[in-house]
Amino acid sequence: MPPPPFRSLTKAMPEQTKVMGKDWAEARREGSVDRLRLTLQTALANQTAITFELGCGHGHWLAAYGAAHPTEFCVGIDLVTHRVERSQRKQALAKLTNVVFLKAEATEFLDALRPTQQLAKIFILYPDPWPKKRHQKNRFINAANLDRLADHAVAGATLHFRTDSEAYHDWTREHLAAHPRWQLVEGTPWPFERTTFFEDMMKAKRDLLAVRLP
Ligand SMILES: C[S@@+](CC[C@H](N)C(=O)[O-])C[C@H]1O[C@@H](n2cnc3c(N)ncnc32)[C@H](O)[C@@H]1O
Repeated sequence: MPPPPFRSLTKAMPEQTKVMGKDWAEARREGSVDRLRLTLQTALANQTAITFELGCGHGHWLAAYGAAHPTEFCVGIDLVTHRVERSQRKQALAKLTNVVFLKAEATEFLDALRPTQQLAKIFILYPDPWPKKRHQKNRFINAANLDRLADHAVAGATLHFRTDSEAYHDWTREHLAAHPRWQLVEGTPWPFERTTFFEDMMKAKRDLLAVRLP
């Protein structure tokens, strides 16, 4: 039988993107979360009070933090493979048994956590600021993600946010102030200084601290 004409193939595409009634992106995401859940079972073992860095980049900050806080179990994640590999090399070179770096997307990581795997401290340093108005929807901080973080944080957990961007700082402050599960705390110094890869380029530091309400 001759192949169907090109037009009918393209028309068939929307139907073919459905996998068991879900669209392709949703099915793919669920697969990633399931795989991560298995990874976390081993990587986090029985840890119940995790120090978490979201978007760890090259791992400078968390490797230094973990070395200085040997009693805390620290997990850093990033989307970009080569950054995670560089982070993992730092962990291995310094023989840090309390630090783990994983390649993961942040919302998928959070959705993969089990109820006992709770966050005690959350650090977000120099997240992508998405300065153009039409791109602001891509900023990690939004009401849904603050909920996600709160879902997996212990009562009293701290959320430390640092950016060079005045616009993203103001945006995050507004979102935290409006969120019922986080309370902004003023005047507390940044808990641990180690210049990150992006901080080195950006120089400016604008910090926020919030506490997860009971
Ligand atoms: C501007 S860099 C800052 C990296 C590091 N914190 C520093 O200060 O050097 C932002 C990092 O966040 C990571 N990232 C962005 N969105 C992410 C997401 N949804 N999940 C995990 N990592 C993410 C990027 O890959 C990038 O490495």
